[in-house]
Amino acid sequence: MDDLQDYRRLFPVTERYAYLNHASTGPLPTPAVEAMTRHLAQCAGREESDYEQWEQRVAEVRGLIACLIQARPEEIAFVGSTSHGLNIVAAGFDWRAGDNIVCAEMEFPANVYPWLNLRRKGVEVRFAQAQEGRIPLPAIAEQMDSRTRLVAISFVEFCTGYRHDLAAVSELCRLHHARLCVDGIQGLGALPLDVNECGVDYLAAQAPKWLLGPTGIGFLYCRQEQLPELDLVMGGWRGVVNQKDYFCYDSEWFPDARRFELVPNILGIIGLGASLELLLGVGIERIEAQIMALTDRLLEHLHAEGYQIVTPHACHAERSGIVSFVPREDPEALARRLKAAGIVVSARGPCIRVSPHFYNTAGEIDRLMDELRR
Ligand SMILES: Cc1ncc(COP(=O)(O)O)c(C=O)c1O
Repeated sequence: MDDLQDYRRLFPVTERYAYLNHASTGPLPTPAVEAMTRHLAQCAGREESDYEQWEQRVAEVRGLIACLIQARPEEIAFVGSTSHGLNIVAAGFDWRAGDNIVCAEMEFPANVYPWLNLRRKGVEVRFAQAQEGRIPLPAIAEQMDSRTRLVAISFVEFCTGYRHDLAAVSELCRLHHARLCVDGIQGLGALPLDVNECGVDYLAAQAPKWLLGPTGIGFLYCRQEQLPELDLVMGGWRGVVNQKDYFCYDSEWFPDARRFELVPNILGIIGLGASLELLLGVGIERIEAQIMALTDRLLEHLHAEGYQIVTPHACHAERSGIVSFVPREDPEALARRLKAAGIVVSARGPCIRVSPHFYNTAGEIDRLMDELRR
């Protein structure tokens, strides 16, 4: 489709709302709903041959994820959530007392607790300090030393929308022989990411935000070279090569990220696959351009009307799909008032967080501004 607006018909949510809340949860597009509905109908009928077809689809969707982040399909494991993926990394390292992990202030807790849980092994968790909504590179460097084994940060910060320069953080990691582990959930689906160009070692994300997929399905990217350093903490029958040889228990683990999988959430994978086909069909660069155009417009209005903008916005490369600002009334009450007027955003602390996707329109941003003026 040439015109992005043609995609709006695939998003029934547009009939009710100016939905500007993808940093919270994205709506399922119709192709994802249809694919999952077909799958459920098939489950009701239950033909033996369906299983092979589903396995085939699982492999295809693994390939779509690889395509999204420029990885290899073998480097992708399906997991249930970002937390699940990050915990596979946290539990898999051979930590020694005195090692440290550098995380950052303002991170969403999903990217904090897996690391704090390692304190019982004598691992120290350090927090790079935020400055005006950003985590400056020197603030990360300052926390690193010869015992830093891992830097754990988000691609995009959930509250301010600050987009990290992952390539620069990865360079710091190389200097300290540390690994870079990324929580990708607030960027993937909205912004392009090449894990090789950016030197990402591990990345985890769940589907239901910018990827427009269902809840309960996500993935872990594990760079092939780094696979041997992760101990396999949970071994499942789906993680072995000869999984159909039910009575033989000496099968090898998969020599790739599939060893981390326990049981595939086929319904979730099918829904995510349909959403990924839609996003990749539109083109991630095109999606990013539209999101930037919409957030530019919003920032201009907010600036002109004297709002305190919490999102760092001086530099395009640091921006994402998230714009946060301090409203002139209680944020929770304002979010409720906007919802009643058909506009969905989030209240986060003292801020209102606005997060449009590619199918949103300039008109919807203007409607939000009109409503703020009331
Ligand atoms: C940055 C970030 N990471 C992770 C999550 C969620 O983690 P999980 O997929 O484990 O639910 C969120 C939001 O819910 C988030 O904003």
